[in-house]
Amino acid sequence: THVVTEACIRCKYTDCVDVCPVDCFREGPNFLTIDPDECIDCAVCIPECPVNAILPEEDVPGDQIHMIKINADLAKSWPSITKRKPALPDAEEWKDKTGKLPELIR
Ligand code: F3S
Repeated sequence: THVVTEACIRCKYTDCVDVCPVDCFREGPNFLTIDPDECIDCAVCIPECPVNAILPEEDVPGDQIHMIKINADLAKSWPSITKRKPALPDAEEWKDKTGKLPELIR
């Protein structure tokens, strides 16, 4: 599967969802996840993300490993998102920040 990492938190640009051929993105208040049961590893979403938040599971770095389980868990309860929409209003302010996990609204 592919995994949305912390870079997405408080940004949620949503460029990724427009290109997904299997509609595997799930939307929370300030983050998206990929449903690992639906993702076909096509990788077309990777270059679409302005903050490079999406990675193949095998390339997720050590400091983002927790996001693999978070994607899988939250994908079970969050609704599908298939159409791009405006980024969060303060996305530009948050796009270069790291360690955003405490900001994640579940
Ligand atoms: Fe998030 Fe990047 Fe998609 S910020 S919503 S993974 S385009």
